[in-house]
Amino acid sequence: MTPKIDVRQLFKRYEGAAHDALQNVSLQIQPNEFVTFVGASGCGKSTLLRTIGGLEHHTGGELQVDGLPVKGPGPERAMVFQHYSLYPWMSVRENIKFCRQLKVHTNERTSADVEAAAGRADALLRLMGLGHVADAWPNQLSGGMQQRVAIARALMSRPEILLMDEPFGALDAQTREVMHDLILHVHRLEKATIVFVTHDVEEAIYLGQRIVLMAPRPGRIDTIYEVPLPAQRTQDMKHAPEFLQLKRQILDRIKETSGMKTDLDLLEQLSRTAEA
Ligand SMILES: Nc1ncnc2c1ncn2[C@@H]1O[C@H](COP(=O)(O)OP(=O)(O)O)[C@@H](O)[C@H]1O
Ligand SMILES: [Mg+2]
Repeated sequence: MTPKIDVRQLFKRYEGAAHDALQNVSLQIQPNEFVTFVGASGCGKSTLLRTIGGLEHHTGGELQVDGLPVKGPGPERAMVFQHYSLYPWMSVRENIKFCRQLKVHTNERTSADVEAAAGRADALLRLMGLGHVADAWPNQLSGGMQQRVAIARALMSRPEILLMDEPFGALDAQTREVMHDLILHVHRLEKATIVFVTHDVEEAIYLGQRIVLMAPRPGRIDTIYEVPLPAQRTQDMKHAPEFLQLKRQILDRIKETSGMKTDLDLLEQLSRTAEA
């Protein structure tokens, strides 16, 4: 089977940088897979995501989507960043409906296309709990609500690949939990392939089928973990022993690869210096 995303010996170095942002990164992501990325800051997670999204050029290696080299952004790949970018002059509903990739915005549109798009926009509005603010302007909404609008807009075109860079990073814990189940639902029902970057290990385990741990200086893949949970996730799994064990293991490894450690001897030394 052709992988949905095929990354082979990928290198990326920004001009003037001392290290590769990506060094020899290889990874195959299968159709409808949900892969999450974690790792110390600066390990290249965003760079890899933007490269797959076609927003960044790689300096070596190969990158293919559906067996074809990536030459730039494409309609089958939707990106969601931590910081939403809504059109301030459009209402919430118009922001969701306005999606460049939609057939509705081309010359061959039919009234059926327009109706189908309006139906999906309304369904997404309701699903995201935005029904009551459909006619509001983005600047009238809280950050969390604006981010939900941005996600609804990304889902509007039924993208085959969703590239998400810490999309829930600014949301409160309750909204985040709702978003997790929502995104798993989209993954299951719309058969999207999802590549998801987060600094929250619990989020990475709850959502991912595989977790890719990256390490910094140079940015590279350190370890790939298979998540030992059933495909259908439920919130109570977060308390399962295998969940907690994997979480501990990943957190420890991130600490090791970040160059920071909890060394008891050093801590004691530190306290002694403080006392002296
Ligand atoms: N536009 C850029 N120009 C120069 N260096 C960059 C740029 N973006 C990221 N970097 C550097 O590349 C490395 C990887 O960064 P990034 O992909 O943002 O990591 P992460 O998302 O894992 O925190 C870091 O050392 C960062 O400073
Ligand atoms: Mg980043």
